[in-house]
Amino acid sequence: MKKLFLLLSLAAVAAVTAAETENQLVIHAEQGRFKIDRNIYGHFAEHLGRCIYEGFWVGENSPIPNTRGIRRDVVEALKKIKVPVLRWPGGCFADEYHWKDGVGPREQRPRMVNTHWGKVVENNHFGTHEFMDLCEQLQCEPYICGNVGSGTVLEMQQWVEYLTFDGESPMADWRRRNGRDKPWGLRYFGVGNENWGCGGNMTPEYYANEYKRYATYVRNFGTNRIFKIACGPNSGDTNWTEVVMREAGRRMDGLALHYYCGSGRKSRSATQFAEDDWIWLLRSALRMDQLITAHSAIMDKYDPKKRVALIVDEWGTWHAVEPGTNPGFLYQQNTLRDALVAALTFHIFHQHCERVRMANIAQTVNVLQAMVLTDGPRMLLTPTYHIFEMYTVHHDATLLPVELKSATYALGEVSIPAVSASASRQPGGAIHLSLVNTDPHQSARVLCAITGAEVKEIAQGRVLTAAAITAHNTFDQPEAVKPAAFHAWKKTDAGWEITLPPKSVAVVEMR
Ligand code: AHR
Repeated sequence: MKKLFLLLSLAAVAAVTAAETENQLVIHAEQGRFKIDRNIYGHFAEHLGRCIYEGFWVGENSPIPNTRGIRRDVVEALKKIKVPVLRWPGGCFADEYHWKDGVGPREQRPRMVNTHWGKVVENNHFGTHEFMDLCEQLQCEPYICGNVGSGTVLEMQQWVEYLTFDGESPMADWRRRNGRDKPWGLRYFGVGNENWGCGGNMTPEYYANEYKRYATYVRNFGTNRIFKIACGPNSGDTNWTEVVMREAGRRMDGLALHYYCGSGRKSRSATQFAEDDWIWLLRSALRMDQLITAHSAIMDKYDPKKRVALIVDEWGTWHAVEPGTNPGFLYQQNTLRDALVAALTFHIFHQHCERVRMANIAQTVNVLQAMVLTDGPRMLLTPTYHIFEMYTVHHDATLLPVELKSATYALGEVSIPAVSASASRQPGGAIHLSLVNTDPHQSARVLCAITGAEVKEIAQGRVLTAAAITAHNTFDQPEAVKPAAFHAWKKTDAGWEITLPPKSVAVVEMR
């Protein structure tokens, strides 16, 4: 009888552990020192596939509601995620873009071939004025990437003059003739893109010299102050960081890292994948932490005061294009898995926020890990969009260090932490805790203690999850994946117990 009871009890314990993992979290509210720069939640829009054309630009005569040619539904959706900064015109396109072709009367602008992306005709209808108008409509900072690969120093120098000079000069006068009297404010300027690859296949030594030459002529006019961003490494290329920091670190304000975490292990499909593809991609996303740590260590050597920001100005997933679409357009669907990639990546950026002060997901609309997908007049919000929206609470908040003892989620020989957590405090005092449960089968019980603050209540919570790891929104079912109210917490003697559903991201507000 005794034996039977013992067996039954063991079975009961096994059932509990099979249903849920246990995790311990401490939030150190008294130790907040660094700000999570809202620019970490930045975006990237390239002349690639249907990002600029169709995604943003439909033209003034389009039946799709627009403001001066820019579609209103997309702008309204993006305003809700408080886009802080938008990088443009590329990407690889930046190093073959000649800005003078994109100003003046639209019907007179020359047409060119977009050689990188589908070899389609680029009619230059979306140029400098349209981009700056878009940023004004979004109320975000523009971040322009200049052409080092195939452009001249003069061309780059004149672009900055055209944009920012208030006095009398050939470029400022031309801007006025093109309808813009006052200069724009422009803070972020990139001196080339991926110059180790599509931007000219340069060595770091050669690029460092080119950077110094081009950057010299990126001038400050009037009160405008340009934050100069140098091309940084491709993923783990620490030699690039070493050489460029050593040779040119003093002359830059930011260094741009690019890392795409890719797709699944066996399937590259955005929507048709198995659990081993799920864990594989989440593990690849977590590699961002090692990359930032490695590049930051080199930057610390040349810039111990952390004056130069590490700017991850291209990141995200990269799946196979949707069947039947142009392979050069990089149009991919977006599932709950992509949402978890975004949430995990933000926790890593937060952790490194002293050095990482901007990041730009690739790309905003219809390309790679997009926020928004469009189909003619229709638009849908992706699961990734919802993470950006839920995480707006972290914008410019103070990072609160956390200690986490997480259970492990494993499949075959691959294992990752089951839980990821990040906490921040708003200037007004509320603490926001975001949590990810990577395990698609088990709930995660998180026992959370807070030091240095008395949390009287969890005022509200939201969660993003779905029945399947492949869940996504379609034009017929645009709300299959969207945030829901979340209340799975209770107060304990030691703090709070929060239970996350399997495969979920939750954000709670503590007061
Ligand atoms: O985002 C797509 C492309 O990926 C960009 O144009 C390029 O910089 C990177 O290789």
